[in-house]
Amino acid sequence: MSIKTATLNGVATIEIARPEKKNAITGAMYSQLAAAFDAAREDGAVRAVLLTGQPGIFTSGNDIDDFVKRPSNLEEAPSFAFMKALMGCDKPVVAAVTGAAIGIGTTMLLHCDFVYVSDEARLAMPFVSLGLVPEFGSSLIVPQLMGNARAAEKLLLGDPFTGAEAVECGIANAVLPAAEVVRHARRIAERFNALPPGAVRETKRLMRRQRSALLLETIGVEGRAFGERLKSPEAKEAFSAFFDKRKPDFSRF
Ligand code: COA
Repeated sequence: MSIKTATLNGVATIEIARPEKKNAITGAMYSQLAAAFDAAREDGAVRAVLLTGQPGIFTSGNDIDDFVKRPSNLEEAPSFAFMKALMGCDKPVVAAVTGAAIGIGTTMLLHCDFVYVSDEARLAMPFVSLGLVPEFGSSLIVPQLMGNARAAEKLLLGDPFTGAEAVECGIANAVLPAAEVVRHARRIAERFNALPPGAVRETKRLMRRQRSALLLETIGVEGRAFGERLKSPEAKEAFSAFFDKRKPDFSRF
């Protein structure tokens, strides 16, 4: 079981737990994540969701082996079901980023309500380096949040950035010592036990309403481009290089 779930004191905790592969997320894990978010949404005892990883690693993103073996169109992929469940969660989602958050690891944070990062966290969206393109609305949300110039560093160059920069540009709420981040995120999630759930749900819906049509359209366009890129020779070179533990060579493209 690489996704662990537990509900305690009104908070459903969803934990990515595959440390031996740096919490890389497989298709099966996306399906488990989707089911966990759907269950949290349905459970009347749950007031908020806490999403977290393992000490030192939130997630290294999509399992690259899965990209090679199952290069499916994103809209049919289990990752799509997961992101739909996350975006459709009508309860507050609090992320505790315990370390590196790469690729979809950063993308998913853009769809959480609160994000707390440990002081050792590094965020990165290295899609271009893998021959891919941004996904699940990040090509829309990242430039909106930080402006085009900084978004180009993160999306075109794939430069990693610190938790402090994530706070500065509005992706995260606060940076905390590594030993504190999960506890603090849980305390925030537990505050919803004392708030009226109907008003919370409706406020979350209103906060997201403005951009939802454009976001859905963007996700569709990105998904089709991503599906095409997965099959590209550039992506094949990037994936082989990752598993051969060498630098990719894009000079022939
Ligand atoms: N998919 C599949 N396997 C992955 C993975 C991923 N996204 N990330 C890490 N792993 C595997 C490695 O292949 C390695 O497996 P092995 O022990 O069988 O060789 C193991 O996890 C440990 O990873 P390693 O790279 O040795 O750890 P590290 O501490 O040196 O570096 C990262 C950690 C996260 C910086 C590095 O693993 C990395 O860059 N991963 C890929 C990130 C990425 O590009 N994700 C996709 C974004 S779209």
